Amino acid sequence: MNGLSPEAIEGLRSPLARVVEVHEALDSTQARARELARAGTPHGTLVVAEVQTGGRGRLGRRWGSPKGGLWMSLVLRPGFDVGLAARITQTAAVGVAKALWEIGVEARIKWPNDLLVDGRKICGILAESSIENVPVAAKRVRPASVDRRLDFVVLGVGMNANLDPADLEVPDREVATIRSELSRDADVLDLLRALLSNLETELARIEDFGGVLQDWRTLNCTLGERVRVQRFGETLEGRAADLSPEGALLLETSRGTIELFEGEIEQLRRNCDGDFL
Ligand code: BTN
Repeated sequence: MNGLSPEAIEGLRSPLARVVEVHEALDSTQARARELARAGTPHGTLVVAEVQTGGRGRLGRRWGSPKGGLWMSLVLRPGFDVGLAARITQTAAVGVAKALWEIGVEARIKWPNDLLVDGRKICGILAESSIENVPVAAKRVRPASVDRRLDFVVLGVGMNANLDPADLEVPDREVATIRSELSRDADVLDLLRALLSNLETELARIEDFGGVLQDWRTLNCTLGERVRVQRFGETLEGRAADLSPEGALLLETSRGTIELFEGEIEQLRRNCDGDFL
C-alpha cells in the first residue's frame, strides 16, 4: 500500500515499529491498536491502514481517512509514572512537527496538538491512555492500597499526505495536505521514517518536559494570539499568553489569567498567515 509493506517498515528498524500491521482497509487503526494492546502486544506496535472507514478524531469527531493519507496508531508502553501521561500529546506534536519540517513542510502547532500550515490542519494526533489499578502489598499498619499504573497508550497520527484537500470532504480553507504544500507527493516510507524517529526522540525526553515545551513554543502558532474557548458551557475570550510547566494554556482574560488543561480553542486571528477570520 502507498509503498508501505510490513517488510519495508520493519526495515526502518525503529523501536516504535517492532511489530507491524499494514491493512488495506480498517475501521480505525486506533481501535485495532487498542485491541492488540489489550491482548498484550509489546511497546512499539504499529498499525497502518490505507483507508479507514470509521476513523476517529478528538472529542468523538469523525476523521475522514481516504486513500493517500498516512493513518497510523502506535502502541506505547512507556515505563513512566501515570502522572506523565498527559504530556504525551504535546510531546508527540513536537515530534510530528519536526518530522514535517524535515520533509519540507513548515507546520506549526495549534494548542494543544493540531498541526497546521497557514492556519489549515494537516495532521491530527489522538493519544488514549489505559490506566490499570494495581494492588500494592499492604504495609504493616495501613490497609492494602492501590497504585495507578500506565498500562499502555495508543497514539494515533492522522497525516493528510498524498491527497488533495478536496478528497477530505471538508472546506478547502480548513485543510492542507503534504501534496498541496509541496506540490508533489511525499515518499511515504521517508515520511514514516521521519515520524518514527522524531517521535522516539521526543518521547525519550518526556521527563524533561521543560525542554519539550521550549520546542513546542518555538513551533507553535497559538501563543500571543486572541482565542475563544468553550468551557463548562461558557465562552471565554482572551490572549493565549503562555504555557504552564505542565503544558496548560494560560489565557489572559478580563477576569484574570485562566489555566486551561484541555479543550478546543478557536484562534480569532491566524498567526500562521496573519489573516483575520
Ligand atoms: C484529531 O481530532 O485531530 C485527531 C485525529 C486523529 C486521527 C488518527 S488517524 C489514525 C488513528 N485512527 C483513528 O481512528 N484516529 C487516529
